[in-house]
Amino acid sequence: MELDDIRAHWQGWAEQFKGDIRATTKTPTIKLLEIDALKRAIEKIAGTDGAQSILEVGCGNGHNCIALSKFFPQTHFTGVDYIGDMVKCALDNRDAQQATEQADFYEGNVLDLDSHAELTGEYDIAFTDRCLINLNSVELQLQGLAQIAHQVKIGGHVILIENINDSYSQQNALREHAGLAARTPDKFNLFFNENELTEGAKPHLQLVRSENFASLHDIMLYVITPMVSGKVDYESPYVKAVTDMLLSLPDGLHDSFGGFGQNRLYVFRRTQ
Ligand SMILES: C[S@@+](CC[C@H](N)C(=O)[O-])C[C@H]1O[C@@H](n2cnc3c(N)ncnc32)[C@H](O)[C@@H]1O
Repeated sequence: MELDDIRAHWQGWAEQFKGDIRATTKTPTIKLLEIDALKRAIEKIAGTDGAQSILEVGCGNGHNCIALSKFFPQTHFTGVDYIGDMVKCALDNRDAQQATEQADFYEGNVLDLDSHAELTGEYDIAFTDRCLINLNSVELQLQGLAQIAHQVKIGGHVILIENINDSYSQQNALREHAGLAARTPDKFNLFFNENELTEGAKPHLQLVRSENFASLHDIMLYVITPMVSGKVDYESPYVKAVTDMLLSLPDGLHDSFGGFGQNRLYVFRRTQ
């Protein structure tokens, strides 16, 4: 898809779904697991007090920053998104959830963060959650990643939750073994090849670790429930049960269910 069409897609969802999670995902359960994975990643980097300053690029209507601000009351969160209506909804959500002091949201493009007047370039942590996959070439995705890395102080961290072809293919292989057709990504997304991401990050970022936090969730959502009911059911009680179980796990077990989740979390340290 052309970049203008991708932008029009997000403008459309912002207008249609406003402050609701549905403006940024069809899967409410994955949003819970993403926030949990981000929280655990931030704790591993900065302890339970959190970092001083955290930036989310492609923040949508603000659900990640607002939820994380409740876990880390000493951290200031800044969110940037290129859709003005998403930013407006993020500000409304923030105020409605009493997070006004702790979070700011601005309009801005991941490809042009260097010239953004409100951004400090000195964040302890910057993260994305399914943002870079909305750029339509690997070259642009890596340009965006370099812009994100520049916003973090040297020695600071970049956390990415992005969709990865490698685990998406594994998931499709499971579907095909089970007699289901392979799924294809939405037209407005270009998933990463893991190798291109980790190699492309190297000029600025050193990979610390990765986690396939949604593997079991995605097996249940995209393989097991379709085997039983014939469709992907975002409201399935079994998907909700798996999500509750994953949210209750002690540290160390979240990556124990294979590489079948289409979203994967990566932690990088800025080296230069
Ligand atoms: C899948 S949504 C995720 C939103 C948010 N990260 C979350 O997890 O709730 C992707 C978001 O990235 C934003 N986005 C896409 N391309 C962008 C770009 N070039 N610069 C800034 N934001 C972008 C979209 O407007 C959308 O809000």
